[in-house]
Amino acid sequence: MPKLKMPANLPDPIINENAKIVLNRRYQRKDTEGVVYETTKELFWRVASAIAEEESKYKKSSIKTADLAREFYDLMTSYNFLPNSPTLMNAGTDIGQLAACFVLPVEDDIEGIFDAVKHAAMIHKSGGGTGFSFSRLRAKDSVVGSTGGVASGPLSFLKIFNCATEQIKQGGTRRGANMGILRVDHPDIMDFIKAKERDGELNNFNLSIGLTESFMQAVEKKADFDLIAPNTGEPVGSLNARDVFNILVQKAWESGDPGIVFLDRINRDNPTPQLGEMESTNPCGEQPLLPYEACNLGSINLGKCFAKGTNGKDSEINWDELKRIIHLAVRFLDNVIDASQYPLPQITETVEMNRKIGLGVMGWADLLYQLKIPYNSQTAVDMGERVMKFVQDEARSASKTLAAERGHFPTYVESIFGEANLGPYRNATTTTIAPTGTLSIIAGCSSGVEPLFALSFVRNVMDNDKLVETNPFFEDAVKEADAYSGSLMEEIAKVGTIKKMKHLPEELRSVFVTSMDVEPIWHLKMQAAFQKHTDNAVSKTVNLPANATKEDIWDIYWKAYEYGCKGVTVYRDGSKTSQVLCTGDGD
Ligand code: CDP
Repeated sequence: MPKLKMPANLPDPIINENAKIVLNRRYQRKDTEGVVYETTKELFWRVASAIAEEESKYKKSSIKTADLAREFYDLMTSYNFLPNSPTLMNAGTDIGQLAACFVLPVEDDIEGIFDAVKHAAMIHKSGGGTGFSFSRLRAKDSVVGSTGGVASGPLSFLKIFNCATEQIKQGGTRRGANMGILRVDHPDIMDFIKAKERDGELNNFNLSIGLTESFMQAVEKKADFDLIAPNTGEPVGSLNARDVFNILVQKAWESGDPGIVFLDRINRDNPTPQLGEMESTNPCGEQPLLPYEACNLGSINLGKCFAKGTNGKDSEINWDELKRIIHLAVRFLDNVIDASQYPLPQITETVEMNRKIGLGVMGWADLLYQLKIPYNSQTAVDMGERVMKFVQDEARSASKTLAAERGHFPTYVESIFGEANLGPYRNATTTTIAPTGTLSIIAGCSSGVEPLFALSFVRNVMDNDKLVETNPFFEDAVKEADAYSGSLMEEIAKVGTIKKMKHLPEELRSVFVTSMDVEPIWHLKMQAAFQKHTDNAVSKTVNLPANATKEDIWDIYWKAYEYGCKGVTVYRDGSKTSQVLCTGDGD
């Protein structure tokens, strides 16, 4: 437990009603009877002080631990920045596992496969999510040397991982999320593409197909491509690339799964190619990692970085404040690496070699609302690129400052930064854009870089009362336009959007768009704009109406490739009875 005493004058955090419920259920400490004994103030102080205490071991740091703890406390309780859920849950506790993202290798033998099942269970117990590539497993019906029998193939093992996950609730409260990836040239690829066609099947997994550059070129040329046996490296058949792509699109249209990841692109940006290839990402796709690597994430709430124009000036982003937050957040996340206890020695070793962190953003739609820029516009896309470039440049500059104080990450010299003489940096990667499923509820902001889901909606509260909840920036704007009324809010709550409400001012209708109003092309352009300046990847779902066609999905998958995205996920309204796992709700 942290040693720093809580200052007597520490202000209480202001917690919104939804955050109170989430924090109470999942984040505040409980005794063996399940009774919460930690206040929210104690929670944030526990995290702030545990992370600040890491500072004292760096001799060159002139920062006083107590001062830093207070700065971290203010940073979190102002909701300018929050670290990922495992840090909030476990910092300063006996569990001490603080990272959200892990990738585990799955070797092509029974021992290796069941080691991975066991390691995933250990990670899920501590609140982390796991990604696996099943590409090394030999194909179904290939020969097993030791027994003379036949192999059951990646899919049958995937079911075991899914079942094990079902039994272990993350941190005792939420089920673990998994990513399963199979390379497109694996002989079992067609079964894998169809693996989730029945609703509820493999429900603890997001599945993605690992697409290669040569496969995409074959799709373009309508050519055949070879299937390669992973255990021998020999071609064992071929398929028409266009046919495979069509079935992939068909299945994604039916159920949202599988998504796609561009493996060559991920490896093109691998900062430490000398340590091997990245084969998988974490569950929501934003964090490619090496086998046995983990990464902790944190997100800046951009909605808080708005500066209202005065003296005739236009409203803007408060760049100075954003810079201050980025530098403090990078220090925070680098300290998290040291404070975290990882469930396996191999993970500790890999994490300490590369010291990856993933600083991202949330509240992007909230910021656009305040700036009065429609999400579905080139101005918003350009602004997204500008903001993320700033975040990445400043995060790297903060990482350089830390390298001067603490030394560069141990594999720096052979990394792409060392080779190009670009550093030295403290961290092999600094930026990642997470979904912020739970963090955005705690901070009361829009999630990640997504548009808002609904401007106003009805929330059922405990005694069956219904409350109409409205986005605060929208509410302000409606009041400013003199159009506010309770009945209008109720009307909006029924449909979520004001797109068709012609009686409302045109400016309101163009600025306050929701995810369903945003055409797929703008979802993709926004993802690509943020990806351009993100070391790791961007979590983004392209939302589609129920009547979207397969051609629409074809187009999205193809454009994601053309625009330089690292992967993409689609969701057609109503195509699944339950949404993917990372809504933050978990189970
Ligand atoms: O908001 P929060 O920090 O809880 O998480 P997020 O940004 O929605 O998700 C970030 C990452 O946390 C995911 O990509 C997963 O690696 C992990 N996660 C998980 O393992 N299980 C969940 N139910 C949600 C997230």
